Amino acid sequence: MAYPITELVNEDATLVSRRCWTDPGVYALEKRGIFGRAWLFLGHESQLRQPGDFVQAYMCETPIILSRGQDRRLYACIDSCSHRGLPVCRADHGNTKRFICPYHNWSYSVEGELVAIPQENAVRNKPDKSRLGLKRVPRLETWRGLVFGSFDPDIMPLEEYLGDMRFYLDAFLGRFPDGIEFIGAPHRWLLDANWKLPVENQLGDVNHGAFLHSAIIPREAQDRIEELGHSVVTAPGHGATFRLMPPDAAVDEVAWGMEGMGGMLGGAPVQEYLREVQARAAERVGPLRARMKGLTYGVYPNLSFLWSNASFKVSHPRGPGRVEYWSWAVVPADAPDEIKRVLRTNYSSFFGPGGILEQEDSEVWVQQFRGCNIDFADDRPCFYGLGLGEEKPHPELPGLVSVTANEFYARHFFARWRDDLLAVEGRP
Ligand code: FES
Ligand SMILES: [Fe+2]
Repeated sequence: MAYPITELVNEDATLVSRRCWTDPGVYALEKRGIFGRAWLFLGHESQLRQPGDFVQAYMCETPIILSRGQDRRLYACIDSCSHRGLPVCRADHGNTKRFICPYHNWSYSVEGELVAIPQENAVRNKPDKSRLGLKRVPRLETWRGLVFGSFDPDIMPLEEYLGDMRFYLDAFLGRFPDGIEFIGAPHRWLLDANWKLPVENQLGDVNHGAFLHSAIIPREAQDRIEELGHSVVTAPGHGATFRLMPPDAAVDEVAWGMEGMGGMLGGAPVQEYLREVQARAAERVGPLRARMKGLTYGVYPNLSFLWSNASFKVSHPRGPGRVEYWSWAVVPADAPDEIKRVLRTNYSSFFGPGGILEQEDSEVWVQQFRGCNIDFADDRPCFYGLGLGEEKPHPELPGLVSVTANEFYARHFFARWRDDLLAVEGRP
């Protein structure tokens, strides 16, 4: 890189260089400084119910097989044959006893152990198969069914890493007696954008709603978001935005899902189910969190949760100017199948790849990347200064809290991002 990292993000992170999104040298550092050292989201336990179940995942650009072993424990291995490096798992998800490499048919157990080498019968010296299994992801932990892996063997425990984000995630996850489940395979699509653009948007940018999404989000709804909206940073790079509804708000106004297409058009059984969830919310998550009506969340570095349309998303880098976006529909595990189906339709109509809001956001990220990849503009970093210093501790809500127009969620993200790159710069 031709410039120091401190020139990319200034001290208070109010100025962020356009090269943060476009520079291949920055991207190479991100792989080591961020994706090599963070907890990265892999999937949800509901995708892996039986021994032999597996799903594909990624940690940055590294393909991962996440599986449930015959001992019912979870395993995460790099999907690359120990012989010549091919991927050994060709399906996105499924159930199997063996992963068999297509080149010379070395086969691996669902836990990643090398089981058979067809050619070894023809040679005298047998290789030690116990040393030739798939490479395991060194750390694998779950919290509330969410599965994360890390390449850093010394990383802090996942619960500590999530910290106070657990309080906000639980406001949603804890509402349902049996938790949530991921329904179906993720939608996956490619965008000509940098991985941080979707992340930043969904970490706390609710301010674009009435403008970019004006065809769908009426001005009154946006006014209500601004009036009741809270933006929280629990630790740099982690954040939550939500409306804190008045204590006397009507159930239909507070209940998750009622404002979505599924709730509106799903008919009486769906609406009754959503009201029932809300009626018991205080008992399950406490009176304060029962009043939370979430918008968007982010977990550093690249996991997003859209509460309003119940979707988990991961922004997988594919180079500085390319991102593979993964998006799962999330439903309450205890809901009847028909209600799950309606709720999933709600997700896909708004935030699947064909969803109207997703398309508008995606177009913006692509244009934003283009706008940051132009010449003669290096002296014009992007401005992140709105609301500087206005975030404060709150008597009841963990973290720093402010209005949604305060861009502190992004400043904290970029300050952590800068410090993570500084920590590995100059190291091999
Ligand atoms: S490359 Fe996998 S068996 Fe040869
Ligand atoms: Fe949006």
